[in-house]
Amino acid sequence: MRHLLSYRKRAPGPALLAGMTYAGAPDQVTNIFNPLSTPAESVHRIALLTLAICAVIFITVAGLLIYAVVRFRRRPGDDASEPPQIYGSNQIELAWTVLPILIVVVLILVTARTIADVENYPQPPDALKVSVVGHQWWWEIRYPDLGIGAANELHVPVSEPGRRQLTFLTLESVDVAHSFWVPQLAGKTDLIPNRVNRMWIEPKQAGVYLGNCAEYCGTQHAKMRLRVIAHPPEEFARWVESQRRHEAEATPASAGRERFFSTSCVNCHAIQGTSAKGTFGPDLTHLMSRETLGSGAAPNTPEKLRAWVRDPQAIKEGCLMPDMRLSDQELDQIVAYLLTLK
Ligand code: CUA
Repeated sequence: MRHLLSYRKRAPGPALLAGMTYAGAPDQVTNIFNPLSTPAESVHRIALLTLAICAVIFITVAGLLIYAVVRFRRRPGDDASEPPQIYGSNQIELAWTVLPILIVVVLILVTARTIADVENYPQPPDALKVSVVGHQWWWEIRYPDLGIGAANELHVPVSEPGRRQLTFLTLESVDVAHSFWVPQLAGKTDLIPNRVNRMWIEPKQAGVYLGNCAEYCGTQHAKMRLRVIAHPPEEFARWVESQRRHEAEATPASAGRERFFSTSCVNCHAIQGTSAKGTFGPDLTHLMSRETLGSGAAPNTPEKLRAWVRDPQAIKEGCLMPDMRLSDQELDQIVAYLLTLK
């Protein structure tokens, strides 16, 4: 899939600089300063306002401090007596009570308004609907209207001027609280057990957006990464078509296929069109169309795939896929089969 994408690669730079210099393409680092989606733009505006207010406060306080230190420093010839001690000034106390209250009220109002604008945004009938389910430590992704599923890589269409395309997500968790965060697309929204949260994104540039789980969820929280791949509309339609094909059905009988179906792989993983229907781990139907393994733990290359199947714990310690203690021959067979799942 990745060869279909026409995103520009660029070296990661300081986030702020990147945001100012390179608006127009997804960053190779998670970056809050280069929003490329409507909700992220709203968040970005508040972030800048908050930073500006903080900067004014910092400059004022630091400036007064430096002034006091320099102006009233000890000079040669000073006597050693105490300076006059002043207690209480209604004017100054009023000022430093009222001003912060006003600042906080302004920030509350602006924030509440932005949150309401984003959360109450009406869902257009043609919005793409996606269900995202958090697992320790990977993302299950389902497209209920399209009848397809994925894991760890969320493919969506890009929104173009005159042809807006929004993606509405429902967020759930099967175990603990996680948080869906792709900073260039939207703010964070938690995935909480026994609760359905909603959010939406509207990527305006094609490319790969990086994100990660933003709520500590256990040992491998840091390797619960997330990619959102935004395609131009026609390319997205092609991607959907490719995901509908169950290549597994067409895969000829092979030693690897037999081996896969005779091990406990099938208890946890599903491959559409076959008897493998496990839901505990990621759906493997189109495993080889993904860029990474283990939710961003390693690049998806044949060597890493083999290392992953041999002992996932070596790459992502604590992950729920066990070391199956396969022999070299079994490994070769299973990996050969997995490589056919494009
Ligand atoms: Cu999932 Cu942190």
